[in-house]
Amino acid sequence: MIEIDRERLWRDIETLAGFTRPDTPWTRRAFSPEYDTARRWLKAAFVEAGLAVELDAAANIIGRRAGSEPGLPPLVTGSHTDTVPAGGRFDGIAGVLASLAFARALEASGTTLRHPLEVIDFLSEEPSDFGVSSIGSRAFAGKLSAEQLAMTDPSGETLAAAIARVGGAPAALAEPLRRMGDTAAYVELHIEQGRVLERAALPIGVVDHIVGIRRLSLVVTGRADHAGATPMDARFDALAGAAKVITAVETLANAMNGKPHYVVATVGKISVSPNAANAVAGRVEMILDLRAGSNDVLTDFPELLMTRCDLGALGFEIAPISTAPVTDCAPEVMAAIAAAADRLGLGHRTLTSGAGHDAVNAAFTGPTGMIFIPCREGRSHVPEEWSTPEQLYDGARVLAETLLALDQSL
Ligand code: GLV
Ligand code: MN
Ligand code: MN
Repeated sequence: MIEIDRERLWRDIETLAGFTRPDTPWTRRAFSPEYDTARRWLKAAFVEAGLAVELDAAANIIGRRAGSEPGLPPLVTGSHTDTVPAGGRFDGIAGVLASLAFARALEASGTTLRHPLEVIDFLSEEPSDFGVSSIGSRAFAGKLSAEQLAMTDPSGETLAAAIARVGGAPAALAEPLRRMGDTAAYVELHIEQGRVLERAALPIGVVDHIVGIRRLSLVVTGRADHAGATPMDARFDALAGAAKVITAVETLANAMNGKPHYVVATVGKISVSPNAANAVAGRVEMILDLRAGSNDVLTDFPELLMTRCDLGALGFEIAPISTAPVTDCAPEVMAAIAAAADRLGLGHRTLTSGAGHDAVNAAFTGPTGMIFIPCREGRSHVPEEWSTPEQLYDGARVLAETLLALDQSL
């Protein structure tokens, strides 16, 4: 009998969430000292749960439990342990710790699956200081490019150097670490980060697809000048131009959304130069985060944006940073999740993920699905992010039941 230890799971959430920058809860940025401490704690917890721990070339932490049938690919589960700045206590770690709870339950009951089980803490899922997100799972699927490995953070460190610093081997990342068929199935539990489940008063969401995400750099160039001595008709104000761009992004996304696809677009990061109260801005760099239920929208949006921004004599350039296509979850994994919830007497519905996940990349290695649990008011990427012990426990039980069923059926 597999029993998830509800109290232990909750205690683990409190412990792992507690590895935060003390001045800015809940912040555990990838590659930071807090992240390093948290991951050392996690490795020890994996070992205690009977998992053999290794770091792959992308510095993903992999806890492995052997299966009974030689030659079968692993069932893989997990998520990430990094956070956005001033983020929440559940985004990411809920999935890692629910997976750990399953491994612990197998160990406690002496259960051996047919397939090996792998619990993975993927490196750096949130947009990192290098401008790339889902670093570990991208590399897992062979989607971390040489250009991305060469990107630098504000201190000048390259992503490749940072991966090496945390124990990875960036030179080995030109090839995929896993290929299609290397994973029997990948199942990730995550908080919903929206209000669909809460509104429907349902404990379980079965994800049907994950939106595609494109990140683009938007650069407006003008000319830095004295804010007092430069007349209004002699300015090339890059920040005034950037304001027009941001408004155009919002207008365009509003116009495209629901016709028929889900479309959202956000400029959430901006850097102004020289960024002085008494200087006209000469250059503005922004990051556009574009998400849609259609790959065509992701492709067409930048050109449409360009045609809608009349910036006069200012320069305006759009350059791609990263693209993750729309990801369809595998019908057999979705069915296994729904059946598991049914067996446990837990209500469920299908829903779409507007957030990106490591599952997007895992889907390049085998059939993939996601289990969502509700979070209060749908809020996430904020310190108020919250799910209850009961919601987490229900999700962990569905994860365990799903993996047990897939172990038999695959
Ligand atoms: C990941 O949290 C995302 O940005 O969707
Ligand atoms: Mn997140
Ligand atoms: Mn997440």
